[in-house]
Order: sequence, then C-alpha cells, then structure tokens
Amino acid sequence: MNRALGVCYYPEQWDKSYWSRDAADMVELGISWVRINEFAWSKIEPQSGELRFEWLDEIIEILGKQNLKIILGTPTATPPRWMIDKYPDMLICDKEGNKRIHGSRRHYCFSHRGYSEECDRIVELLARRYGRNANVLAWQTDNEYGCHDTTISYSAAAKVEFQNWLRQIYSANTANNDGDIEALNKAWGNVFWSMNYSCFSEIDLPHNTVTEANPSHSLAFRKFSSEQVIKFNKRQVDIIRKFSGAPITHNFMGRITYFDHFKVGKDLDFASWDSYPLGFLEDRIEADEEFKKQFSRQGDPDFQAFHHDLYRSVGNGRFWVMEQQPGPVNWAPYNPNPLDGMVKLWSWEAFAHGAETVSFFRWRQYPYGQEQMHTGLHLPNGTKSAAYYEVKKLNEELKNFSLIETCNSKVAIIFDYDADAAWDIQPHGNNLSYFTLIFETYKALRKLGQSIDIVSSCHNNFSTYKIVFVPGLMYMDEKLKTVLSKFSGQVFLGPRTSTRDKNLNTPIPLPPNLPNFDAKIVLTESFRSDSPIALENGGHFCNYRERLEGSANIVERTVSGEPAILRGGNFTYIAGWLDSVALKRIFLSALKSVNLEVFDLPSGVRLRVNSKERFWFNYSSQAQKSSIVNLQPAEVFIEPIDGS
Ligand code: GAL
Repeated sequence: MNRALGVCYYPEQWDKSYWSRDAADMVELGISWVRINEFAWSKIEPQSGELRFEWLDEIIEILGKQNLKIILGTPTATPPRWMIDKYPDMLICDKEGNKRIHGSRRHYCFSHRGYSEECDRIVELLARRYGRNANVLAWQTDNEYGCHDTTISYSAAAKVEFQNWLRQIYSANTANNDGDIEALNKAWGNVFWSMNYSCFSEIDLPHNTVTEANPSHSLAFRKFSSEQVIKFNKRQVDIIRKFSGAPITHNFMGRITYFDHFKVGKDLDFASWDSYPLGFLEDRIEADEEFKKQFSRQGDPDFQAFHHDLYRSVGNGRFWVMEQQPGPVNWAPYNPNPLDGMVKLWSWEAFAHGAETVSFFRWRQYPYGQEQMHTGLHLPNGTKSAAYYEVKKLNEELKNFSLIETCNSKVAIIFDYDADAAWDIQPHGNNLSYFTLIFETYKALRKLGQSIDIVSSCHNNFSTYKIVFVPGLMYMDEKLKTVLSKFSGQVFLGPRTSTRDKNLNTPIPLPPNLPNFDAKIVLTESFRSDSPIALENGGHFCNYRERLEGSANIVERTVSGEPAILRGGNFTYIAGWLDSVALKRIFLSALKSVNLEVFDLPSGVRLRVNSKERFWFNYSSQAQKSSIVNLQPAEVFIEPIDGS
C-alpha cells in the first residue's frame, strides 16, 4: 500500500490571505491529506443557530483545487461558550464533584442529553453540507476522547444515566419498573459493610466514599463510562454515514485506558492516534530518571510501536498517525527538541507498523493561546522549522520506498480495557498497574527483536500465532479460555490472569481455573520493590507474587523453593511480576521453544519485520552495532528480505 503524509491545519486561526499559499506549499512539501475543523465550532456557529459555513466552504475549495484530500473533523471537543449558558449542567465534573469550566476544551460530560443532541445537530449540518463534497475524503469524530482525564464524569447527568444503565443490566419485570435490585446486591456482594440498596435510585457514583468504594461498584461505573464514549461516538458515525460514504476515524491518544478503544474501533473505518514521543516519555511512562535522560530527545523506543500495534488492531487492520510530534511540545514536564532525524524515524516506525498516513501536528505554530510554545512545520512568522526539512526528506525517501506491506506477527499480547480498570480499582500494592505490566511484556519481547500484534480479549482465532501472552487479564471468559486451550501454540499467562469474575469478585473454586491446568492460588502478596524475591535461575519477582498449589508441572521455583512458573497443557502460568532480568531470560527461552528467530538488540535498537523488509531503528543517541547492521543515532535502515 502507498504511504502518505498529512498535516493538521487551522485555517480559522489565520487570515484568509494565507490560505491559497499554504495549500500550494503543502503540495510542494508532499502533503496529500489535510485535517481541519476539529476545534472550530465557535467559528461555524458563533451564537446558537447562527450558522457561518462560508469560510469552511471556501477553504475546502482552496485545498481541493490543489488536489489535497480533506479529513473533516466534527468540532464537538470544543463546545462554544453559549452552549454553557444553554446547558449549565453539561459540564464534566471531577472526582470531588467540581464542575470544570469553559476556557480550554473537552469540558462536556458524555452523559448529558442536551449536549448530545447539540452534537447530533452540528454533525448533521456538517454531514449534509459536505457529505458528498468531492474534496472531503475522510471524517474524524471529535478529538481525543478521554484526553485531559475527561472520560469519567461525576455529574448529576452521569448519575441518572448510570442508574438507568444498571437497571437495564439487572432488568426484571418488577411492578415498579425498577430493575432487580436484589440481583445487583448479590452480584456486588453488598451485604459486606451493609451496603445493600433497596432501589436503583439510591445508587450513587463511586466517589466521596469514606474509604474505597465497593470494587464491583467502581468497575460497573468504569464500564458504564466507557459505554458512554462508545455511544457518543456511534451517534456521530451513524449521522455521518447517512450523508457520506467517506471513511470515518477518531484520533485516539497514547495511554488513555478509561474507555474500550476496541469497541469504539468497531464503529470506525480505521483508527488513528496522536503520537508525541517526547511528551509521552516524560508524562506517561514509569521509568527511572537515567532511562528518561538517555532517551529524552528520542522518546521511549517502544511506546509508539506499542500504540501502532494497538491501534492497528483497534482499527481492524487500518490505522493512521493523525498527529505526529514535529519538535518541542508545550505540555510535558520537559519539552526538548528531538534529536536530528527523530521526526523521520518516528514516521518510518509508524509506516513499518502499517500506518497508511502520518500527519504532522501542525502546519504553523500559533502565536496565541495555550499552544504558543508548541512547534509546527513553520514558525509563527511562516519561516520553515527544522521539522519541515525532515518531512521534506521523508517525502523523498518515501518516493523510493512507498510500498510497505504488513503481515501478521507470530507473537500476540492480549490487551483489555476492563482489566486495566480492575487493576486500577484494586491494585493491591504500589505501582501495580496493568498498563505497565503489559508494556513491560511488550518491551521485553521487542528487545528480543519480535514484531507483535496487540489483540483484544474477544479475539477468537489465534491460528496465525506461535505464542500468545496474557498477563494480568483478571477476568477471562470461558470462551477465551477454551479458544486458547485449543490453540496449537504456547500461552503465557499471569500474574493475576483469570483471578476474578466479571464483577471483580473472587471465584470459588479458587482461581485461575484454566483448562488442563490444575493449580489454585492460595496466597497473593505485594511487597516492597527493594525486597524482591529471587528466582532460582536468575532475576526476581519484583513487587507482587502468588503462591499456587496443585498438580501442574513446576517449571521453575523461587530460591526458597516455592513454585514460580507452572505448566499444564499449553498454558504456562507466571506467578508474579518479573523484573527485566527474569523477563529477558524467560521470554528468550519461550520464543526459542516455538522456533522464533530471536535477537539480543543493543540499547535503543529495535526491529520491525514485515513480509518484504526488515526495518532497523536506532533510538539511541550513540552509534550502535547489532549482529546485522551498524546504525548511526536516529538512523533507520530498511533491509529487503531475501527473495522479495
Ligand atoms: C493533542 C491534541 C492537539 C494538540 C496537541 C499538542 O493531544 O489533539 O489538538 O493539542 O495535542 O501536542
């Protein structure tokens, strides 16, 4: 497939006299897609019902004349000020119950019916007007659902909708039309601490409780909040589809786990995401200071790759990078300039993972507002920035290498948003986060040269894989257990996999209850990471472990003789959180046992293998030598695979 370049453009922020020139310059740079309009509601509708589409018509025409393809955003992430007067209760509320106010973005609550109807209206106006426009060739719904911690709202609207949602789940033909409250009390174990309810309208949102709320209650609220996002998105998609045949996407973010992206993805034509490697390194990754220092101008070597693999799966095989960091951003604790060549490397990494388009944020730095310190492809005065020249080079390189084909990896990791919620709600110890567990698994495999697919817990055909990793999936349904037990490859599970039921209760018989695997967890403990538990063949359980008893084979023990890794059928259960030494040793032997080619890559070097080429990346600021290639800092080396 041909790979393309794009850019995020905000015509509403610039005088009209810039537009034609900008469009011509975009073409010269090799841009083919331009995303517009995702924050322009107040420009389209300055007062309720007062519509101003002329400027949008004009810019669409100008871009179209240059054969630029437009991705039209729906502007619902930025409700205009008049909306708040109309619906003062549409504002999202934080955990303390405080209303967020107008003056930035994403200040709406997903559960507010009035606001949802306003969104329907503006989306329909746009879809009717531009649905058949020959230049509008894709749509983006809203902007970064959940960014700035905006999935969960503790508003009055959310409370009403949550109660209705629970009534439906525990529905019953009761005389008063309420749900079956006794079924809910039982499912949540509300007899504990006298938490029983007598009707659904008594149920509050799980915040402001004296100590932690019932985990079943908290998990239900997380699932409900996720579904509100899914519904909100689907309403927009359904409206656009009535008027347009163009594909629809949403631009997801890095490490936002409060809603189920796989479910949103089912309603889209492709996924896209916003990649800010240097911001993410400082802002979203647990790593020691030395590591952050080493990669401060390159970004974590695996964080972007992980999200490419995740969003390829969320997008049912199709994804883009909708916003690529071009230089220093404005929002992280430190905002350095990338090492020369990194913008190009990040883009190549995206293409190597199957991105169809990499689009840069933004065309020109804006000298007003919150993002004045955020670079673009041009300075505010129009001078070209360093990133402009890298994109130009990238475009040249793409001309010689634009046909990249992705292929199925042999290694899969199951990632699940409800599991993330479950770990958040009952972590059982400091720093025990599901995302971190998954990311450490991914990182360890990538350091061994693997190309990985991230799949959802609903995935039901693993036949193309040789090995599947399922760490931390607290609730595992029977279907997945059966599918995995019948799979011809190896499955690595644990810690905590299959240890709770779907309401976050402990099952009896005791878990993990896996087919062909006879062992049960009789103790779980978290402990200080400065007092790890050593494993007999090297490395440690670093902060959490389980003790299992049963007849499953013991593959490895702790130095004090307790089972650490157990095997039954094709399941291997790892009974604790491994440190990096143990991860490397155990995964190396696991990969070799299924005959996969394994590399021991030098610091910062990563590999991505497709059907026709191997991509080598050097994220290190030093030159590096692997067994196959020597790489300069920020170098990408594309090696054709023999016979292709
Ligand atoms: C993204 C967002 C953009 C812009 C950018 C700055 O999260 O979608 O609108 O704010 O960050 O890095």
